[in-house]
Amino acid sequence: MQGRFITFEGMDGSGKTTQMRLLAERLRREGREVLETVEPGGTEIGSQIRRILLDSANQELRPTAELLLYFASRAQNVEQCIQPALSAGKIVLCDRFTDSTLAYQGYGRGLGEETVLTLDRIACRGLAPDLTLLVDVNVDTALGRAHTRNASLFSSEETRMDEQSLEFHRKVREAYLALARHYSSRFRIINGHGSPEQVAQRVWEAVAQHV
Ligand code: TMP
Repeated sequence: MQGRFITFEGMDGSGKTTQMRLLAERLRREGREVLETVEPGGTEIGSQIRRILLDSANQELRPTAELLLYFASRAQNVEQCIQPALSAGKIVLCDRFTDSTLAYQGYGRGLGEETVLTLDRIACRGLAPDLTLLVDVNVDTALGRAHTRNASLFSSEETRMDEQSLEFHRKVREAYLALARHYSSRFRIINGHGSPEQVAQRVWEAVAQHV
C-alpha cells in the first residue's frame, strides 16, 4: 500500500501554507490519514538547518552552500518521515519540495537545472510528487503578503530569502510557471487570488480526483 505525495509550491506570500493546512483539515474530515511536513524543516535536524538558511544574519551564505543545505534538510525528511508515511499508505502534504530548489536556486540564483536534479537524485532517491499544486499570485500580491507576515513578531527572524530583490522574485515566479508547463502531468496551477476559502475550493477540485 503506497500513499500519495502532494506538494505545495509558490512564492513567499502566495498563501500556500494556509492552503495546505486547509486541505489537511478537509482530508482528515474525510477520514484520510495525513502527514503534514515542510521544507526546509520537517524533522528536528531539518528545523536546525532551516534556522541557518532563513536567518537574515547569514548574508555570507554562498549559493552552493545554500543549495546543499536545502538538500540536506530534504534527505533527512525523505528518509525519516516522508518515505515511511508513504509506505504506511498515508497522504503526505509537503510545503515546498525540489521544485522550490529548481525555481529559487536553479533559476533564481542561476545554479542550473542539471545541478539541482543531480542532487535531487542523491537526496530523494527517485521520490517525486504525485501531484504538485502551484499556488500562483502576482509578484506584488506575494511580496505584500510576505511583508505583512514578516512585520509580525514571530516570523521576524526568517527573512533572508524574502529580502531578495524584486527581480529575483519575478524570476522565481517565471521559473515556477515554466516548471508547471514542463511537468504538466503532475502540476496544477491554482489561482491564489481571492479569499482563503475561494482558493481552498480550487485546491479541492484539483486534489479530489487524486486521493
Ligand atoms: P517558506 O517560508 O515558504 O517555508 O520558505 C522558506 C524560504 O526558503 C522561501 O523563501 C523559499 C526558500 N527555499 C529555497 O530557496 N529553496 C528551497 O529548496 C526551499 C525548499 C525553500
